[in-house]
Amino acid sequence: MRTAVGGARNDSGLQAVLDAMNPELYAMVVGRQTDNPLEVFQGKRVLHSDIRGGTLERGQWAGLWQTALQRPAPGEKRSAYIHIPFCRHKCLYCGFFQNFCQEELENAYIERLVTELKMHAGSPYLTNPVNAVFIGGGTPSALSPANISRLLAAIRQYLPLSNDYELTLEGRVHDLIPEKMESWFAGGVNRISIGVQSFQTKVRQAVGRLDDRETILKRLEALAGYNQAAIIIDLIYGLPYQSPEIWLEDIAALKTAAVDGWDLYQLNVYENSALKKEIAAGRLPEVAAIEEQAELFAMAHRILSEWAVAQISVCHWAKTNRERNMYNNMAQQGNTMLPFGAGAGGRADGFSLFQERDIKRYMQKIDDGEKPVMMMMTLHESARLHDALKNQLKLGYLDLDQLAASFGPRVRELDVLLALWEKQGLVTRGSGMARLTVAGQFWYVNITQSVLECTNALLHGMGVWEKPKAMQGMAMQGMAMQA
Ligand SMILES: C[S@@+](CC[C@H](N)C(=O)[O-])C[C@H]1O[C@@H](n2cnc3c(N)ncnc32)[C@H](O)[C@@H]1O
Ligand code: SF4
Repeated sequence: MRTAVGGARNDSGLQAVLDAMNPELYAMVVGRQTDNPLEVFQGKRVLHSDIRGGTLERGQWAGLWQTALQRPAPGEKRSAYIHIPFCRHKCLYCGFFQNFCQEELENAYIERLVTELKMHAGSPYLTNPVNAVFIGGGTPSALSPANISRLLAAIRQYLPLSNDYELTLEGRVHDLIPEKMESWFAGGVNRISIGVQSFQTKVRQAVGRLDDRETILKRLEALAGYNQAAIIIDLIYGLPYQSPEIWLEDIAALKTAAVDGWDLYQLNVYENSALKKEIAAGRLPEVAAIEEQAELFAMAHRILSEWAVAQISVCHWAKTNRERNMYNNMAQQGNTMLPFGAGAGGRADGFSLFQERDIKRYMQKIDDGEKPVMMMMTLHESARLHDALKNQLKLGYLDLDQLAASFGPRVRELDVLLALWEKQGLVTRGSGMARLTVAGQFWYVNITQSVLECTNALLHGMGVWEKPKAMQGMAMQGMAMQA
C-alpha cells in the first residue's frame, strides 16, 4: 500500500518535505524519539527496501532481452542466479518454498534449466566473464548427484566463468553426505551456503528442521574436511523457544564451528505461513516481538564485536578470508544479474526481470524456445543513485561526500535526516559521513526505505511512502533478495 503526499518537485529541500508530513507519516519515515534507539520504529516497514520502476508491456520483453544479450559489455562485473524450486520438507517459517522434490519432475526441470543456459550461450553478452554464480532455492543441495553434476557441467560449458569465479550452492545440513558433496566439488562449487537457522535441537525441530546439534557440527566438519569451499551458514533470531540464553549459545557455537562466515537474519513471520497458523492455534509459543528481536541482534553484535571476525555487512560476518561474498556484493551494487530457472529474479541493461514461478509454465516456455519471463520492469530513473544508497547502507554507512561527487550536491540534503537519526541513536555522524549504530543496523531496511523515499521526494517531487503491511510469504530469490 502506498501513500502519495504532494507530487510537485521539491525545491525547498528535505526539511520542507519532512515539515509537510503528518505525525503518523513522520513516525513511519523518521521514527520516534525514545530512550531506546532499538525502539525508534514500530515495526519493519517493508521486506526489501526499493523504489520500483515502471512496468514494461509484455510485447517488449523478448526484444529487450535479446537486445541486452547483443551488447558486449566488456569489463563489467556480472553474476548469474540459478533457481532450484524444490525442497524435501517445508519449514514452518519459510517464504521460499515452491515444490516438493519428486524425481521425475526434478529430472524434467534440470533438462529445461540446461536448455535455458544453452539458449543464449555464445551471444556477445555471454562471451565475457561471469564473476559469480549463485545456485539458490528452495534447496539446491536436494538435487541428486546426477542432476547437480549435469547442471554444474552446463554452467561451466555455457557461462564463461572468470578465473577468480565464485560458485555458491545453497543447501541444508541434511544433504551433507559424501556422494553429494563430492559431486558439488567435482563440478566446481567453491562456496556453500547452509541454512542452519539455530543449532539448538528443540528450536530447529519445532520449525521443521531435521538434524540435531551434534549432527550439524559433525557434518560441517566433514564439509570443511574437503578443503574446497567457503562455508557460510544462516542463523535466524526470534524463532519459537529461542530464548536469549539459547540465542547466546547459537552465537557461541559460531566460534568453533567449521564455518568461514555467517548471516544473522531477523525472523519474518509471513501472513500465510504455517508458523503463523501454528502459533495462532497455540501449538507453538509466541515468537519474539520486534523489540525483543532488536535486543537479540544487539546481544549478538556485542559479542561478535569482541571476536577477531570481520563484519562485512549489517547482517553478515566473515571469520576467515575464504569468504569473499562476491555474489552478494555484486547484487548489492546493482550489477547485472542473469536469472535462470523458475522463480528467479535478475537485472540487465536498464530493466529488472522476474521469471515464471509456476514450474509447469516455466517448462512450457522453455519448450517453446522462450526466455520464461513473468514480469519485466524498467529501472527507476535514479536507479544508479538508489543502488549506491542501498549498497552503502547495507555496508553500514552513508558517505555523502562520495555520493555528492557522483550524483550531485542535492544528495547532501540527506544530512537533515541523518541529523535526526543521530539524535535518535541510529547513526553517528562525522564530516560528510555517517555510520549506522547497532540500532541503525537492526533497522537498516526501514532506514534504507526512508532514505530512498526522501531522495525521491527531493529529486523528483515524488512523495510516495510505502506503508507497512502484513508480510506475504512469497519471497523472490535473486535480485529481490538484496534489500
Ligand atoms: C532461500 S532460503 C534456502 C535455505 C535452504 N533451503 C535451507 O533450508 O537451509 C535462505 C535463507 O532464508 C532465510 N529465511 C527463510 N525464511 C525466513 C524467514 N521467515 N525469516 C527470516 N529468514 C528466513 C533462512 O535463514 C534460509 O536459510
Ligand atoms: S528453509 Fe529451505 S528447505 Fe525449508 S522450506 Fe525454505 S527453502 Fe525449503
